[in-house]
Amino acid sequence: MKIFLIGFMGSGKTTVGNLLAKKLNLHLIEMDEIILKKSGKKSISDIFSLKGEEYFRNLETETIKEISQLDNVVVSTGGGIIMKEANHKFLKKGKVIYLNTSFNVLENRLNGDDSRPLFKDIKGAKKLFDLRKNIYENVANQVVLTDNLTIDQVVNKIFKFL
Ligand code: S3P
Repeated sequence: MKIFLIGFMGSGKTTVGNLLAKKLNLHLIEMDEIILKKSGKKSISDIFSLKGEEYFRNLETETIKEISQLDNVVVSTGGGIIMKEANHKFLKKGKVIYLNTSFNVLENRLNGDDSRPLFKDIKGAKKLFDLRKNIYENVANQVVLTDNLTIDQVVNKIFKFL
């Protein structure tokens, strides 16, 4: 089994992925961690500022291509994975679950977090959010509205769907 969790920054992909992987006895893969290792940089922010977004996106595509060949994994993707159409065919090799969280909740959650270069400017982040939400929905096999759910409830919804 191969499960891809997609959704905007702060939607809980890593937290949910951790719990889901334990429940299903699968490995959790955190895409940003792999990209970071490949880049040799210290942080995602450093990759963006020193090498630029395009470099990051190319590493992201290389990474999802590799991961799409694995099995028995839950993959926590980066929020921008759906931006390149070339990535969609790799996502489609597994079950794609969209954690749909409203912008207000994300904004409160990520307030003061400076690890995400694309969430530093709220207006820019909202534009990205509006641009991406239909794409997440179109690529996903299952959409989970997370706003009023606990992590356990989100995991159980995904579990029932599989
Ligand atoms: C990004 C999301 C981040 C990270 C990078 C770009 C995006 O991952 O990949 O900062 O474009 O939405 P998270 O969704 O895990 O925060």
